[in-house]
Amino acid sequence: MTTAVETGAPPRRGVRAAYRRFARRLGSAMPKGLYARSLIIIITPVVVIQTVVAFVFMEQHWQTVTERLTAAVVADIAAIIDVLETYPQDADFDEITRIARKRLNLRIAVRPPGPLPVAGPKPFFSQLDRNFSKEITKQIGRPFWIDTVGRSNLVEIRIQLNDNVLRVFARRSQTYASNSFTFLSLMVGISVILLTIAIIFLRNQIRPILRLAAAVDDFGKGRTVPDFAPRGAREVRRATSAFHEMRERVDRQIEQRTAMLAGVSHDLRTILTRFRLQLALIEDRAEVGALVKDVDDMNRMLEGYLAFARGDAGEEAIPTDVDMLLREIGNETRVSGHEAKIAFSGDPIVKVRPQGFKRCLTNLVRNAARHGDRVTVTATHEDGQLVVYVDDDGPGVPPDERDTVFKPFYRGDIARNIDESGTGLGLAIARDLARSHGGDITLDLSPLGGLRATVVIPA
Ligand SMILES: Nc1ncnc2c1ncn2[C@@H]1O[C@H](COP(=O)(O)OP(=O)(O)OP(=O)(O)O)[C@@H](O)[C@H]1O
Ligand SMILES: [Mg+2]
Repeated sequence: MTTAVETGAPPRRGVRAAYRRFARRLGSAMPKGLYARSLIIIITPVVVIQTVVAFVFMEQHWQTVTERLTAAVVADIAAIIDVLETYPQDADFDEITRIARKRLNLRIAVRPPGPLPVAGPKPFFSQLDRNFSKEITKQIGRPFWIDTVGRSNLVEIRIQLNDNVLRVFARRSQTYASNSFTFLSLMVGISVILLTIAIIFLRNQIRPILRLAAAVDDFGKGRTVPDFAPRGAREVRRATSAFHEMRERVDRQIEQRTAMLAGVSHDLRTILTRFRLQLALIEDRAEVGALVKDVDDMNRMLEGYLAFARGDAGEEAIPTDVDMLLREIGNETRVSGHEAKIAFSGDPIVKVRPQGFKRCLTNLVRNAARHGDRVTVTATHEDGQLVVYVDDDGPGVPPDERDTVFKPFYRGDIARNIDESGTGLGLAIARDLARSHGGDITLDLSPLGGLRATVVIPA
């Protein structure tokens, strides 16, 4: 039983793998845009249908008609030969020549006997030649010579009779269906017109989708999204309305969170201020100094919560000189007594929210400075990406803790020992800000031995 299953499995798996490989290759060969893909989906069947119809028409219908026309001309010639050989004729064959010309539209001449010319080289694709040869052999069965090439609009046929040679000129249009060109051009012309109409309609259908995609993208990157009316097909309208509702709900929530935290911290700050004033009135003793420090720490924490709550609400993304921004951060770090190296390559102008982006990097650099002695910030802007590495030579963060440290209010033991005033919000805020720019932050081991924080932002 087991063996049967085992022997049956590999081929099926092989087929599935092959199919998957084929699908992947097709997917990578297809254009990526919705517009281009839709065009391919429309154009491919049209072209296939046209080709098949044209092929069937040319092969079957056109050929049959041509064969019939040729057969009819050859039948007329056969009748002329019968008349020539059955009935006595006038000396110059005037009567039969006249009848052939008037009634059958053939120009004939009866010549004295003699050898037929040697057959010339046949054009490779001459369907006409083949049809004629077949029909003459079938209906007349005498030696013949044909020339379908010589004179462009005439076909010449010579047939060896018992006593004479019959020479016939037929008009080319008499012998085969020449309207295929009209048919093909009509087909192509109508297709082009229909495709143009389809493309115009398709454009109108796809525009709302592209617009929605752009709006979702902007919203994800924290840019302001102007209101726009749902347009296009029902499903697209529904998605657009759903997006608007979602956006409103998210905005409302952020507003509520901000209002609440701002309210709470304002109230607390008022009390703290009162506290400090009262402390100032008490005589200067060691315990009072400690209390004052606690009050200051609490104040700083409140500022931190407020910053977290505020996020980067209200700030617009504008082209910003990131190189200069990094230098400012470097100077601030040096003032606090650390060694800071800054390097930037690529176009320094990037569209970011300057304050939010600076806070994001400052949080990372402050962490680095808190834990290490040396700090380096290396940034590159190329291929539509801004990448910033913040390295330090501190103790680093072990791999299994690299997710946890991003949680709000989480602080490592070492950090707590170094500095009690931290809130554990630095990395949470930094990641929030990076994500609101459409990017993210990851942590690694630094070449300096400590922690490397990498900020990647599409720019
Ligand atoms: N460069 C670093 N080297 C070693 N550990 C780090 C580094 N950066 C962050 N950590 C660890 O991650 C924790 C969370 O960092 P986060 O910036 O969120 O808070 P914090 O620095 O402790 O407080 P705050 O930033 O609010 O002053 C830190 O407590 C620390 O344990
Ligand atoms: Mg921090």
